Amino acid sequence: EPNQTPYDAIGEEMLSRLVDTFYGKVQKHPMLFPIFPDDLSETARKQKQFLTQYLGGPPLYTEEHGHPMLRARHLPFPITPARADAWLSCMEEAMDEVGLSGEIREFLFHRLQLTAHHMVNSSSNDQ
Ligand code: HEM
Repeated sequence: EPNQTPYDAIGEEMLSRLVDTFYGKVQKHPMLFPIFPDDLSETARKQKQFLTQYLGGPPLYTEEHGHPMLRARHLPFPITPARADAWLSCMEEAMDEVGLSGEIREFLFHRLQLTAHHMVNSSSNDQ
């Protein structure tokens, strides 16, 4: 289909499974769980809304929470380069686990790499 968005290519169900699988990994990652809430259900709900619009689907995140301002929203949390890599490795494992493959996987992972690196707000020496 000529006008298919990346969101259409992944589909709501795959995106939902990806996000749930991802936060299951974040919850167990020694570098990540200390900065996240214990209950990640609300975080996962917001991330599904965000990724839906990030991939060209309906603007669910903005409708409920306003402009994402992602970097600003992450400033309360010390995000070192190592934490960004940990986040990306959880995402890569989640992609493997839900069977997201091919061009759409490469496209999404590449964009997430750029966004994750943009979130870095603390130097490796800090923590
Ligand atoms: C929220 C960490 C990268 C999207 C959060 C929260 C933490 C966090 C601790 C707060 C969770 C909560 O209170 O519910 C990190 C770390 C990253 C990272 C360590 C490593 C680079 C990203 C990336 C994206 C993203 C790459 C988008 C592609 C979001 C969204 C929220 C969020 C949408 C919810 C914001 C809200 O409260 O409305 N992140 N994040 N994060 N993160 Fe990240």
